[in-house]
Amino acid sequence: MPVDDDKYPTESGRRRFVKGVVGSATLASVGTGGVAALNSATAPTGAGGGIIQYLGIENTDGPAPRGMPQIPIEIDSEGFIKGVWPKPETRTVQGREITVAEMELGGETYSSEWFQYCGAQSLPGIQPAADQDNFFRSTGSPPYEWQSSTYSGGDKIHIDDFQDYESWGNGIGASGLGKPAMGTWRSEGVSPQEQIPIQVLRSKRILDKVESGEGEFAEWLRASTAEGFIAWLDKCTHFCCVPAFKAFGDSSKFGAEDRVYCQCHQSVYDPFSTIKKSFVALPRPDN
Ligand code: FES
Repeated sequence: MPVDDDKYPTESGRRRFVKGVVGSATLASVGTGGVAALNSATAPTGAGGGIIQYLGIENTDGPAPRGMPQIPIEIDSEGFIKGVWPKPETRTVQGREITVAEMELGGETYSSEWFQYCGAQSLPGIQPAADQDNFFRSTGSPPYEWQSSTYSGGDKIHIDDFQDYESWGNGIGASGLGKPAMGTWRSEGVSPQEQIPIQVLRSKRILDKVESGEGEFAEWLRASTAEGFIAWLDKCTHFCCVPAFKAFGDSSKFGAEDRVYCQCHQSVYDPFSTIKKSFVALPRPDN
């Protein structure tokens, strides 16, 4: 998938999003006063959603309203990288049964609802019980030469291919900050428009942070990263483009050559800075 394939939510995602909003407004207009209004904000139509606290990489510049949510990582016994997906469970929320994928991890509550924005809430892989294996797989046309010469689209991403992460560079900004790859997650067998874009980065900075054990999010970083690898859902929180670390030469004009840069409207994210924020996660469409 080209980097800029997914500039905006898919048509069906938009329609569903609008439907969800209309549904919420309708809900708010029935019932009684304040309680109904509160319920419509915290439990819109569709499954899951509402006010969610998440951890992610910090948005440091540009119009994006907040950071992109982190995807915790695990490495399997053969060295392939996977994103952690909590075991789905069914809960009753305000009289309705919904399925959620949620777990305690590194002192935080990690939930699939972290990813319910920008149309991603409609993607098949975001469904808590989707039958997917969680491996990160290479995109078909990544912006990194090393990656296109190492992988074909769909290949599983392997830690051995990042051995030069302490020196890697591509002429954009400083070398040695970390080695990135673009991938997809929980997207086997779905159409390109339905794939979940992710970015993974291996960096000594992440490793050092974890080893020092210092900082507000030390426990979370220890649990959510592995061997210096960190990953996030690669959908800009502004208008849903696909940003990247050291992929765009023009990022230097915006001081973003050593950051994750979104070409659409120049938002900048710092993959080495963790934030904890709230947002209103959009409900998944009802089946
Ligand atoms: S989509 Fe507007 S800055 Fe990323």
